[in-house]
Amino acid sequence: MKKIFTNIGVLYGVNEEKLPYWTINHKPLQHIKNAFLSVGTGFIQDYGEMRDLNLTLDKFSNVELIDCQNAIIIPGFVDSHTHLVYGIPRVEEFLLKIQGKSYEEIAASGGGILNSAEKLSALSFDTLYNMSEKNLKQALAHGTTSIEIKSGYGLSIESELKILRVIHTLKQNFKHIHIKSTFLGAHAVPKAHPNKEAYLNEVVFPLIPKIAKEGLVDYVDAFIEKNYFDTKDMIDLISLAHQHNLKTRFHVNQFHDLGAIALAVERNAVSLDHLEVLTPEDIEILAQSKTVATLLPACSFFTRLPYGPAREIIDHGGILSLATDYNPGSAPSLNMAFVMTLACIQMKLMPEEALTALTLNPAFSLGLSNKVGSIERGKEANFIVLENFNTLSDLPYFAGNQIVKRVFIRGVENI
Ligand code: NIG
Ligand code: FE
Repeated sequence: MKKIFTNIGVLYGVNEEKLPYWTINHKPLQHIKNAFLSVGTGFIQDYGEMRDLNLTLDKFSNVELIDCQNAIIIPGFVDSHTHLVYGIPRVEEFLLKIQGKSYEEIAASGGGILNSAEKLSALSFDTLYNMSEKNLKQALAHGTTSIEIKSGYGLSIESELKILRVIHTLKQNFKHIHIKSTFLGAHAVPKAHPNKEAYLNEVVFPLIPKIAKEGLVDYVDAFIEKNYFDTKDMIDLISLAHQHNLKTRFHVNQFHDLGAIALAVERNAVSLDHLEVLTPEDIEILAQSKTVATLLPACSFFTRLPYGPAREIIDHGGILSLATDYNPGSAPSLNMAFVMTLACIQMKLMPEEALTALTLNPAFSLGLSNKVGSIERGKEANFIVLENFNTLSDLPYFAGNQIVKRVFIRGVENI
């Protein structure tokens, strides 16, 4: 049955020009005051001003009317960078962090990614699936309606496959949302291998053809960082990924600039993520490209590290995305509204800019911007109803409050 959401205080994220992504070179996405939104079979059919909704009983006899009582509506969030299938949280490391240990010190003393991988290897598929499903449901409750999930806490053939199969099962069980799967085998070098080359040659490279063939993966990623993987590894991974029709996205420039940006952009990486340490040249290279710059303010918050230069990326014309980076070490929050608050306060983004970076632009980086990410006729009816809010600014302003309560996915309330 058709549904019409009426008396919307302000409808945000309206993409009248059907842009695939937004940059400062485009007109901002529109908002409509005192609006309606109509939905049929899960898709947005129409929107506009209430005064243009000609409500006659005849025309709308088979319609459910939902009075929004002046609530505002925004598109559902698209979280394009998560490590949601990690198993067990690392709360003990949080205590070390509070006592002043840095992310790198914690990793060097047996914590970090290797700690997670060891714990995950002991979990059965079912246990890991159940833990991950709970995380995904929490993401949905926070208004995320499309999501990317990485492997990378396996670090062996067996455990990486276990994670990718968990993601695959989530895809099958949550068909109403978009889940994209990323192989991050090159996340850290596990103790079982004498060196990085051995690990890449024995685990990461051989897995790519197999998981591509089995349809277990959409993207290839790697952690390009001192003591982890270098730009040569990145280039090798890009070549191999392309041979198997997979696109790439990378963790780069979190702590050090290894010169990865130019190399990855040249090779058509769809997204470069973290970017806390960025030169003006890198900002220009990103701005001239279609590679999305994905910044992770909750990771900066949690690790007490500098925030990436979001303002400069936007001002130079780059395609900016914001994501949670949800993981047990550097970003244990799935709350995209919190990411928005951090982006506005710490990165000086205007709420409308932050909203685009949480919706349309990440949808573009996941190849989904023709389906989700804005209010547009023909797109999936994924949106968040924010009751008692007057403007979009209320969202980042009421930091940490329970902001998202009503989420609609394909026109149906997620409860
Ligand atoms: O994106 N930087 C690498 N990977 C994760 C953190 C991993 C962890 O600490 O478990 C990130 O921040
Ligand atoms: Fe990450």
